[in-house]
Amino acid sequence: MTSDKRAEPIRAVKGTRDLLPPETSSWQKVEDEARSVFHAYNFREVRTPIIERTELFARSVGADTDIVTKEMYTFEDRDHESLTLRPEATASVVRASIEHGLLNEGGAHKLYYMGPMFRRERPQKGRYRQFYQIGAEVLGSDHPAIDAEVLEMLLLFLERVGLRSFTLLLNSVGDSKCRPEYVKALRRALESVKSTMCPDCQRRAETNPLRVLDCKVEADQPIIAKLPSILDHLCPECRQHFDRVLAELKQRGIPYEITPRLVRGLDYYTRTTFEITSGALGAQNALLGGGRYDGLSEMIGGPPAPGIGFSIGEDRLVLAVEEAARGKEASTPGSNDAALAAYVAWLGDAALGPASELARQLRREGLSVEIGYEPTKLKKSMGIASKLGARFAIIIGDGELASGRYQVKDMTAGQQEEVEPARIASYLKNRSQDSAIQHYETVTPDLDP
Ligand code: HAM
Repeated sequence: MTSDKRAEPIRAVKGTRDLLPPETSSWQKVEDEARSVFHAYNFREVRTPIIERTELFARSVGADTDIVTKEMYTFEDRDHESLTLRPEATASVVRASIEHGLLNEGGAHKLYYMGPMFRRERPQKGRYRQFYQIGAEVLGSDHPAIDAEVLEMLLLFLERVGLRSFTLLLNSVGDSKCRPEYVKALRRALESVKSTMCPDCQRRAETNPLRVLDCKVEADQPIIAKLPSILDHLCPECRQHFDRVLAELKQRGIPYEITPRLVRGLDYYTRTTFEITSGALGAQNALLGGGRYDGLSEMIGGPPAPGIGFSIGEDRLVLAVEEAARGKEASTPGSNDAALAAYVAWLGDAALGPASELARQLRREGLSVEIGYEPTKLKKSMGIASKLGARFAIIIGDGELASGRYQVKDMTAGQQEEVEPARIASYLKNRSQDSAIQHYETVTPDLDP
């Protein structure tokens, strides 16, 4: 028996999304720009697995953080080992560097990555359960100039992708010497006010008072604003490090806003922490976050190895870039999907072979070419070429086969020329030099002061 009833469609999992063209071209553009800028600073790519042992994140991100207590996708594998879909990649990069002996080699290791991360947060615009990060980490140096260089690279990248208005928030969270004293002071201050705070803060006031500063509950904010500042509790070494970072930033002309409550939601941070926020993003305004993590390697069983890095939320970056492009048409970062160079239209069975041979040749020359395989009338073919945005249409029929010269039609200017097949690739390249084919312009607008 047959039934007309269709099966229930299966939809993407809540908080995940399909990225489709043409949007994927904005993603490629920012990824290409990241690779190019990171390469200029001598960073090389690392790709780590998406699943890791749960313990990696419990030890590094911290057992009492929101990420570990509420947001991780953790499951028991068939051999009863607890595994987790990575909620972030810094711990993985450090784990991989330890595992492959990179940290024993001395010198600074500069690594970058891009890929999906998973956190079971409440989905909204700019916040997803599968989201993407572009990140970079420097392992093996605690020099303040490295902190400034990492920020310098970040700002160059944001400038390159066309982002102009954003704010760099900066802080120091001290180190294992001075932070315990600060945490004690925080605990004391929380004693008298914690009962008026949200249940999470009441718990954190006992277990991990620093995390109180991450609280997003509106009613708690005036209380948090009055808590002691970590910047008043830095030891002389951390103070000196922070002052030197600020001096290095000033020297590079990088504007920043010191934000003493910026402790970041992960436990591995020491000294410098930062975030960049963008007004274009609405509620989820943190475009990226990062900082120093000088003790992280030891936390996960490695040798002492100071480190600093950042992760950009790529979903948010693309939103902000598109928003910025809308506001300033002239600086539209442009599509990374090079425009279609040519549509090959063939008429009559005899033309199909030569037409597909021509398409093959042009594609091998790096030109973006489309060809249809269904027999189609000329008028309809031109309609398709125009709909696809092809710069040229190449027409091959009996006449062209007889003369050995194909018709190449400029779809913008409307004129048509006969060109020998072997010359078509160079003809298209020469004629399209000023157009968008294969190229997109890099936009470098001024940074807001
Ligand atoms: P994070 O602040 O947890 O830091 O995440 C960095 C960025 O990832 C955020 O600023 C945001 O743009 C993006 N992000 C986080 N969660 C989501 C989400 N649910 N949906 C969309 N975007 C999101 C880290 O992950 C550290 N690993 C940064 C770091 C690198 N520190 C040192 N090195």
